[in-house]
Amino acid sequence: MKQFHPLTIERIERETRDSVRIALRVPEEFEGEYEFLPGQHLPFAITIDGKKLRRTYSICSGVDERPLEIGVRVQPGGAFSEYAASTLSVGDTLDAMPPGGRFRIDLDKANARDYIGFAAGSGITPILSIIKSVLDYEPGSRFVLFYGNRKQTTTMFIEDLYALKNRYPERLQLQFVFSQEDQEFPIAAGRLDADKVRELYAHFCKGLDSAAAFVCGPDTMIRTVTDTLVELGFDPDSVHAERFGVPRKGEAKVAAAGKAADHASITVIMDGHKKAFEMRRDDENIVDAAAEHGIELPYSCKGGVCATCRCHVREGEVTMAANYGLEPWEIKAGFVLACQSRPVSESVLLDYDKT
Ligand code: FES
Repeated sequence: MKQFHPLTIERIERETRDSVRIALRVPEEFEGEYEFLPGQHLPFAITIDGKKLRRTYSICSGVDERPLEIGVRVQPGGAFSEYAASTLSVGDTLDAMPPGGRFRIDLDKANARDYIGFAAGSGITPILSIIKSVLDYEPGSRFVLFYGNRKQTTTMFIEDLYALKNRYPERLQLQFVFSQEDQEFPIAAGRLDADKVRELYAHFCKGLDSAAAFVCGPDTMIRTVTDTLVELGFDPDSVHAERFGVPRKGEAKVAAAGKAADHASITVIMDGHKKAFEMRRDDENIVDAAAEHGIELPYSCKGGVCATCRCHVREGEVTMAANYGLEPWEIKAGFVLACQSRPVSESVLLDYDKT
């Protein structure tokens, strides 16, 4: 099982009025564990006022850039984000697990592909990592980014994006969309809704070949953009999405199958070791049930988004309440999110070592 390690804050800077960027130095002995694919995130564990919190933040660095950077938008009342913006300083440490997440790109120097990104607000963070890495690593590939914000002043990483545009003028196309600011050209005003996606696509994406799309933002934006891209002819498998925040419960139920047993015996395989415990039918999920027995299983968001709790059902059957983190092929192959899973069969064997 991946372990948390203390990462040292090397820089912490205000990015916009309501966001900060934090540069984290990985201890030398763990550097290898923190290699990542562009688009992936870091799960954090932190105790604030005696309360243990888990949060997940996407890495915004290019694949070879160190220290690792994350961008944190301050949410009013958001315990971690407010703490990060007001209390953390250079030299402090944050406990982070090695990177994970299914929203990612496999780079190939030989690629000559077109990529499209749609980001809303802080959804830019994983996409910034993907853009930097594609432009640096795939000299034949191009990227078109559509980035929605309320105003220019609340737009995270705007300077980084302009710097990339200066460096790769032929291969990066940037189009900002602002919802609360008058724009000279109507195409740059509004939200990333279905009509805007169609308008932007018609205007900027003519002649793109075999494009793959990366979409990151709140749940409703993700659904609107992905549905519209599919309607425009994209293969659903080439549209990759990462939600931030946890969608409201019940929005995306995965079909429940069968009737759960009153009790089930759960066995987990992790790092080659087996551990077993009994779970009640009315327990919320496998991660919490394991914790009641003193068994710590990996998790971060507990909302079905980050996939930190991903594991493989080797025997038995579970049902998931929600899934925003697994791709269709993973479900087919038997992977589940333990934080959303309850047993259906009387015994279940979960394998955390299978990737
Ligand atoms: S802990 Fe994030 S999906 Fe389960």
